[in-house]
Amino acid sequence: MAELVGGFGTSHSLILVMEPEDWSARAEFDRTISHPFRGETLSFAELAERRTDKDYAALAELPARRAHAQRNQTAIDALGDAIRELDPDVLVVIGDDQEEWYSAAMQPAITIYHGDKLLNSAYDPEDHKHKHPSIQMVESKRHTPEDTYYPVAAELATHMAETATANGFEITASRDIPFDRKGKPIGIGHAFTFIYRRVLRDRPIPLVPILVNTFYPPNRPLPSRCFQFGQILGDAIRSWESDRRVAVVGSGGLSHFVIDEEWDRRMLRAMADGNYAPLIEEDDGIFRSGTSEVKNWIIMLGAISRSDFEMELIDYVPCYRSEAGTGTAMGFAVWH
Ligand SMILES: [Fe+2]
Repeated sequence: MAELVGGFGTSHSLILVMEPEDWSARAEFDRTISHPFRGETLSFAELAERRTDKDYAALAELPARRAHAQRNQTAIDALGDAIRELDPDVLVVIGDDQEEWYSAAMQPAITIYHGDKLLNSAYDPEDHKHKHPSIQMVESKRHTPEDTYYPVAAELATHMAETATANGFEITASRDIPFDRKGKPIGIGHAFTFIYRRVLRDRPIPLVPILVNTFYPPNRPLPSRCFQFGQILGDAIRSWESDRRVAVVGSGGLSHFVIDEEWDRRMLRAMADGNYAPLIEEDDGIFRSGTSEVKNWIIMLGAISRSDFEMELIDYVPCYRSEAGTGTAMGFAVWH
């Protein structure tokens, strides 16, 4: 039988591939939208007024941003090294789909892709010409110069889909890469390309991609269901008739676009203690906007919950970019 050899959690935010000087562009955007925060929705001004516990303006200044950016890069390198050291044959990657493969026309809660290859589509400047220059730069790094196909561990993916269905999770199965309106195949989303390009440094390991709708109502899976689904994935790995070594990755998070250090640290402590109740029982209303991506970690934790791994927190880096405490809190951790 296959062996479950470890777990990983990593943020995948676009500011991880942005220069700290450009984070201000995202802060400008933050000023124009309302923000879910601890169960409420607040304007930027209301948020700034509410958040007086820290000097967020100072934390968002360039020297602090540069220090945070440096820590992020060191942490991602360490995570990539940890994966190479563990040397799994297959990586199961749990990532949210943000209208990449999914659309309003079809928005499954959870999809297991079991085709034999995945596409990272070539960067096409035409597709991004109306975006901010810093976002164009991010997109050029997420995509590859040419269309690139990556191998998928289709046999394990199929076994996972069968195991999930047999255990009461009627997940969506996808075997073909979808096409856009112009007839072009659609590349896999940001939660996955970040792993390929930056964490694995373009040296892909066969993957099982699991796409989760963490963002969009009305069918966001609850944290408790995410954990149960993860447990079934873990069972599927251990019952796969293969001698392959498999690791699981949760991609995304932590709190954003309002950083909530207190919440992140409480969740990370629960993970380190192996006491997942605070995560599973957390009010679903907290998992809004980018913070919803923590559900990808919860699925990963479910998968490894029956193993006796220890968590090693590589780093937790709250990357502030405005005086209202907006930004993205980055988390990087290994279970082995
Ligand atoms: Fe994301």
